[in-house]
Amino acid sequence: MIPSRNITSYLILQSKQSNPTKIKSLLIFFTRILVNEELYANMDWDKLGFDVIPTDYMYIMKSNSDGTFSNGTLLPFGTIDINPHSTVLNYGQGLFEGMKAYKREDGGVQLFRPEENALRMRMGAERLLMPAPNVEQYIDAVKHVVHANKRWVPPHGKGTLYIRPLLFGSGPVMGLSPAPQCTFLIYTNPISNNYKGDTTSFNLLVDDKLPRAYPGGTGGVKNISNYSPVFQVVKEAKAKGFSDVLFLDAVEHKYIEEVSSCNAFIVKGKVISTAPTLGTILPGITRKSIIELASDLGYKAKERKVSVKELLDADEVFCTGTAVGISEVGSVTYKDKSVQFKTGADTVTKKLYGLITGIQTGLLEDTKGWVVKID
Ligand SMILES: *Cc1c(COP(=O)(O)O)cnc(C)c1O
Ligand SMILES: *[C@@H]1O[C@H](CO)[C@@H](O)[C@H](O)[C@H]1NC(C)=O
Repeated sequence: MIPSRNITSYLILQSKQSNPTKIKSLLIFFTRILVNEELYANMDWDKLGFDVIPTDYMYIMKSNSDGTFSNGTLLPFGTIDINPHSTVLNYGQGLFEGMKAYKREDGGVQLFRPEENALRMRMGAERLLMPAPNVEQYIDAVKHVVHANKRWVPPHGKGTLYIRPLLFGSGPVMGLSPAPQCTFLIYTNPISNNYKGDTTSFNLLVDDKLPRAYPGGTGGVKNISNYSPVFQVVKEAKAKGFSDVLFLDAVEHKYIEEVSSCNAFIVKGKVISTAPTLGTILPGITRKSIIELASDLGYKAKERKVSVKELLDADEVFCTGTAVGISEVGSVTYKDKSVQFKTGADTVTKKLYGLITGIQTGLLEDTKGWVVKID
């Protein structure tokens, strides 16, 4: 419930400074309350999937002319106005992030390595020539928006509150130049624990023609057009019954890079390998964490080129990402040849899954300082 004292103080604030924009946001605010009260009352946390569920608040902060950010504010979740001349619409000048808020068994809420997301956004902003909030502002904003939407964090074990920070060129330009103003926006959406709501393992199609990213390009930053270039090939693969596509390097079409939205690992004996982050691989935070946890488990974790040949010869294969967590890969298909891998309870993939989700959800003690408690 939005406490009624919030509504009262909001009303008092509005009446003091009424202007058309304020009145419009007031209307949005009441519509949001009415719609969300009903939505919330009817929430069945056991049937949570990956659907759009608008939560109560979003966070917005705009850049100043000197490239700093200030006056970030919580607003009722709703549509935003966007200038047709904005660089995000015309040139794709934009970045996204993906994080989750986890509910512990004691009802408290926590984040996983938020400073890593803040730093990654700053790195991407440098590449796309945008100003970005500093790490402190970023984490503070995430905490604020999660706190305001706390009732939407699913109960422990049922799911998580997905957090989607965006940074985009919102200021208008006519010529070919970066935006004079950028907007930092965060919205949230509750999602289930399992990607697509099931636990079946991935069967991947190795695409040997269309690479995901090119050397010198922007495959290493989380830009907003990361996914639309792969929609077509993923759709075709899904129509053939595959869960997703594993892309190869753009130069030799010989080394595995990553799946459309997650990083890929192979396990062979006591060695766990994944492609190095040299510009065409998205430096996943789950990836980075798994490399560290694998070493703790006594495995040798290597960031190195992994050929398709080695992939086909692996014991286990798995994917990592905030949305999927860790997904075991049951099979891959390359040029009409299908290979099966070990899956199930007795795998290193499952051990790593237990470790990382245990830390994220507060079931295991966080000895690495990865967890940030919101309350
Ligand atoms: C976001 C993303 C990942 C996963 O990164 P995490 O930080 O682990 O969520 C992997 N690949 C691509 C292309 C991505 O956009
Ligand atoms: C984003 O990254 C993808 C993958 O490398 C690339 O195809 C696309 O052109 C990039 N877009 C921008 C705006 O950088």
